[in-house]
Amino acid sequence: MLVDDPPRRQLVLNLFSPNAESWRRSGVDTDRAWSIDALVQLAQDAERGLFDAIFLADSPGLGEGYTAPDPFTVLSILAGRTTHLGLAPTLLTTYDEPYTVARQIATLDQYTGGRAGWNAATGSQPSVAGNFGSVDHPDHAVRYERGEEFIEIVTALWDSWAPDAWLGGDGALPTFDRSRIRPVRHQGRHFQVDAVFNVPRSPQGRPVLFHAGSSAVGRAQGARHADAIFTAQPDVDVARAFYADFKRRVASNGRNPDHTRVLPGLFVALGGSEAEAQAQFDEFTDHIDLDRAAARLAVQIGLDLTAAELDAPVAESAWAAAGASFTSRAAVIQAEAAAKRLTARQVILRATAAFGHHIVVGTPEQVADDIELWFRTGAADGFNYRAPVRQAIRHRLHRPRPAAPAAAGHLPLRVHEHHPARPLRTADP
Ligand SMILES: Cc1cc2nc3c(=O)[nH]c(=O)nc-3n(C[C@H](O)[C@H](O)[C@H](O)COP(=O)(O)O)c2cc1C
Repeated sequence: MLVDDPPRRQLVLNLFSPNAESWRRSGVDTDRAWSIDALVQLAQDAERGLFDAIFLADSPGLGEGYTAPDPFTVLSILAGRTTHLGLAPTLLTTYDEPYTVARQIATLDQYTGGRAGWNAATGSQPSVAGNFGSVDHPDHAVRYERGEEFIEIVTALWDSWAPDAWLGGDGALPTFDRSRIRPVRHQGRHFQVDAVFNVPRSPQGRPVLFHAGSSAVGRAQGARHADAIFTAQPDVDVARAFYADFKRRVASNGRNPDHTRVLPGLFVALGGSEAEAQAQFDEFTDHIDLDRAAARLAVQIGLDLTAAELDAPVAESAWAAAGASFTSRAAVIQAEAAAKRLTARQVILRATAAFGHHIVVGTPEQVADDIELWFRTGAADGFNYRAPVRQAIRHRLHRPRPAAPAAAGHLPLRVHEHHPARPLRTADP
């Protein structure tokens, strides 16, 4: 059944950061994986392909056979090499500091004329804890509790400048009206803040807030705060239920559900024919080093298939140990394995390609039909798009709307929910 599109409803497409294996298959030689050129090409491809934004995930620690650059730094560089692409780095609420994040994103937003967003993720990798002086990675509930305070502080800082607080200036002596900047005070379990923010109000009103969490507590948090929620949904029926649940939660927070976007991940192998597309997918998975991929999966979601019988289904005991930290993703990958009766080998290969996200293998028409089905039947407002090879993005995917960088350069995702300057709920003793 098709749902009526609200007026001006537009598909959102974000380019998803390439995964470890797509780097290897994209013709990028290993040396260039740490060269900004490859990422500049990717971002410029996305901009030409009319994507709304580029979104970089993060894991601030050494991975299994892969290590990622700092997303904020990368996107700050890409800001200068693109003109209207939105820029959404992940910064972790468990290991970063709210004032720093608010300031970094607000500064990026100012200097790009309103193209910045922030993916607020709690952080799913226990192994990074020691990098930040924490002995233990906090458990799921505590991470979300800290994340809640974190997001409240960041958004309060962003909202703390009245629109007329900035008086301008000649660059050498910019001026502001201090009486129009509201101090932010927060006394919580995880943070005690007494701050006066030092970045003027965003050209967008507020930078776009993305949220990545799909468990019940994650959804509840996203529904309270986010402009858009990222999620992994391999099945359209389950995605519809997720979408309806999320929009209901948004409405129950007194927010307009049409002002939030649900953005599942989408992994696409393309070809002129189905056989060609399948060949692209197979070529991609054929090159995956299974031992390394299994080791990575064990770190990512605690599913340890490093010694598993590869051509048999995954043992119950392996699933039982998974998901302590990345609860929602382990559940998605387990449900997909059960529904499709996947072997351990297939679980490893599919997770390495798409990590539980929806996989489409087909011609451009088939991919467009699939996107339309999800968009028009209430399963998605858009996607985080990832491809196995770079060329697929450049030549084959076209936005179903004209190139139209917003007049003021704002991130097209900005959903125009009014965020007035406000005090923190927990502020002002
Ligand atoms: C689409 C998506 C993207 C995410 N991106 C990141 C990321 O870049 N880095 C990270 O450490 N965690 C990431 N997470 C994990 C969340 O931060 C969170 O820790 C994890 O999802 C566990 O919460 P959940 O069970 O509510 O989903 C992501 C989660 C989702 C659903």
